[in-house]
Amino acid sequence: MDCGFFLAPMAELSHRALRELIEGFGGCDEYYTEMISAGALLSGGPFEGWYTDPLPRPEKLVYQLVGADRDQLVRAAALLDSRDCAGIDINMGCSAPAIRRTGAGAAWMTDIDRAGDLAGGLRKAVKKRLSVKLRTGLADDFDYLLRFCRRLADAGVELITLHPRTIREKFRRSARWDHVARLKRELGIPVAGNGDAATAGDLCRRAASGACNAVMAGRGAVRQPWIFAEAQRMEAARRGAGQAGEDGRAEGAGEAAFPEPVNLEETALRFVELLALHQPPEFHASRARRFFAYYCDNLIWAHHVKTLLGRETELSGMAGVLTDYFRDHPEERLRGESAAKQPAPL
Ligand SMILES: Cc1cc2nc3c(=O)[nH]c(=O)nc-3n(C[C@H](O)[C@H](O)[C@H](O)COP(=O)(O)O)c2cc1C
Repeated sequence: MDCGFFLAPMAELSHRALRELIEGFGGCDEYYTEMISAGALLSGGPFEGWYTDPLPRPEKLVYQLVGADRDQLVRAAALLDSRDCAGIDINMGCSAPAIRRTGAGAAWMTDIDRAGDLAGGLRKAVKKRLSVKLRTGLADDFDYLLRFCRRLADAGVELITLHPRTIREKFRRSARWDHVARLKRELGIPVAGNGDAATAGDLCRRAASGACNAVMAGRGAVRQPWIFAEAQRMEAARRGAGQAGEDGRAEGAGEAAFPEPVNLEETALRFVELLALHQPPEFHASRARRFFAYYCDNLIWAHHVKTLLGRETELSGMAGVLTDYFRDHPEERLRGESAAKQPAPL
């Protein structure tokens, strides 16, 4: 299988508006939704229709579920599995204390039997691809991770996404990609790797290294919604050149340029429009702030513009802040044409 490029599940970010924006640049291979609460879905929460919107590419959509209750997760998975989508993913990696305390997210990783039992129940309910996204575990213990993943695979899980940091590390230190490569070698089912892919060059290097069956990007895809399209073009150029270095790194990956400069102003305003179209008014301000907290790293005066956006409560006000910014800094409109504006490191 060719190495795929996936959009990571991110609460308040991985919704239809971001998918539409990414599709506009050329898309990626799979779009994970933000985590959807199994309990809220089953009890018909007021916003569930927005969370479960599969567009614009249902055939590439993977619903991610979060929850602590086995039966609720199985019933919610069956419900989503009956809709148009590519698969169902279970969140066993969320390290947020509010989630873990309830027994959900990364709490599943502390009990192999409990997680294996859940996977068995899910397998009976889900006809589409069943996957799990997780972290390394409570400690940096690869043997435990492998035993945990083997139990999931034995129960019928078909793909594991590993974000190779421990639960306590949150986003500290670098992701341990050697764990991704080792898990892929030893597990026997496909493994996607996730963590710190900040540029298209990073995606291509991870893909060319053979460490994983897919590379998943989260924050990098919010900062640069064109990241997957750019990586696909780099990959195509590499394949055309027919070269890979002896260390498995793509020759020239990271150096190839996106053919046309990205218009940062148009992209920002397009996202505001997409939010208005595809998210409920109650979500507009919070989702816009979340997105621009990353996207504005493309701009020289990122901190200033984030502060101004933070004062706005309506999308129209945010669009005004962005328009004023680019009017005052026209040299920043086209990415690649202003030397100083490299995105901040993750
Ligand atoms: C704002 C935010 C929200 C996130 N929400 C989720 C989530 O709902 N489900 C999940 O499995 N991971 C979630 N994550 C973790 C990401 O999917 C990903 O594992 C992490 O950001 C590392 O990848 P990156 O370095 O490419 O961003 C979230 C991360 C961020 C920054």
